[in-house]
Amino acid sequence: MQRQRRFSRDFRRALNIEELRRIGRRRVPNFAFEYVEGGAEDEVTLRWNRAVFESIRFIPNTLVDTSARHQRVSLFGREAASPLIIAPTGINGMLHHRGDVALARAAADAGIAFTLSTVSNARIEDVATEAGGRLWMQLYVIQNREICLDVIGRAERAGYETLMFTTDANVFGHREWDKRNYRAPARLTARNLLDVLLHPRWLLDVMVPHGAPRFENVVDFLPPEARSASGGVGIIPRMFTPTISWDDVAWLRQAWPRKLVVKGILGVADAQRAADLGCDGIVLTNHGGRQLDGCVSPLEVLPGIARAVGDRLAVIVDSGFRRGTDVVKAMALGADAVMIGRPVLYGLAAGGEAGARHALTLLTTEIDRVLGQLGCNSLAEVGPHMLVRDRIPEPWTHT
Ligand SMILES: Cc1cc2nc3c(=O)[nH]c(=O)nc-3n(C[C@H](O)[C@H](O)[C@H](O)COP(=O)(O)O)c2cc1C
Repeated sequence: MQRQRRFSRDFRRALNIEELRRIGRRRVPNFAFEYVEGGAEDEVTLRWNRAVFESIRFIPNTLVDTSARHQRVSLFGREAASPLIIAPTGINGMLHHRGDVALARAAADAGIAFTLSTVSNARIEDVATEAGGRLWMQLYVIQNREICLDVIGRAERAGYETLMFTTDANVFGHREWDKRNYRAPARLTARNLLDVLLHPRWLLDVMVPHGAPRFENVVDFLPPEARSASGGVGIIPRMFTPTISWDDVAWLRQAWPRKLVVKGILGVADAQRAADLGCDGIVLTNHGGRQLDGCVSPLEVLPGIARAVGDRLAVIVDSGFRRGTDVVKAMALGADAVMIGRPVLYGLAAGGEAGARHALTLLTTEIDRVLGQLGCNSLAEVGPHMLVRDRIPEPWTHT
């Protein structure tokens, strides 16, 4: 008999991240959901991220007492309750009116770090006072250095422990599905305007009380017409600069006294360079498939990079994680932690702060269950010997 899946509309009853995604999709207008969901160009990278996870399978140990299992990890000398970190995502206020604070609170509650995007809708200081917890700050080195120094100084004063420099958005990705929703920059098509009107609950939550969410961290530096998220959608991509280079990493190392992480590494040589420049961590990422289409999955390059620099800096990985099994596979291949972007955004869209908490609970519960089923009491016990994988093509080399 054909299996019939009927999904509840109540986010509390979502059994997994995919079900949260479906509930979130109904709750917010199409243009806002598509902004979260889309990848670049043909979305080959987006799909490949998932295909690589599916190509890896476990060999469990059996008859091991796993009643003492936990998923705590040590990250930058401090214990975290789980290997998860919330990734920086811009314009969270488009999904929920205090989206950044809601995500940061959910992270603090789960005992994990939250990363605030440069293009967030909540101020650096407000997230620190309203959410607390372990806070990281993401930085795009935008053409105007004054903005960078302002962001860094404020993050330091507000107690953020880590600065994350994103390097893979030097040239903005072409998210074609996202673009189709606009007839001109920041001007929705008639069909999407109608769709917005069909989401009165979202209008009341996001738009009515305070108007369109603003880029609160950089608002003083933007022309008036670009201060709101809707107006800035056209301007922001033009602010990123193709001139960023390793000199910026050296500059940031001088300017920022705490932990420094470079997000956007996929090659061994780049990982070594980050270590040589004194970075404390790297994020292996393809920006969740939103930048270069036809890019490797971070998981494919993880073992080689962990071997090369894993004893010199923290190796964090993101892009496409949707299940506890995915997280455990990455940890077995040498990751120190895993960042998640869309899973918590689906939760936020589906149920605000409680929805984001539910996303984290789903993932941590799955990690716990997978550890038990693998016959392990901690993530330190998993390793590549517990995995088999379909052959993934080697990078081309010219002889
Ligand atoms: C809606 C959205 C906005 C994002 N905004 C940023 C950002 O402002 N800065 C950044 O470094 N990365 C940004 N990213 C990339 C994430 O930090 C992360 O690399 C990616 O979401 C991981 O893939 P996943 O969504 O499959 O978990 C964004 C991703 C999404 C989905």
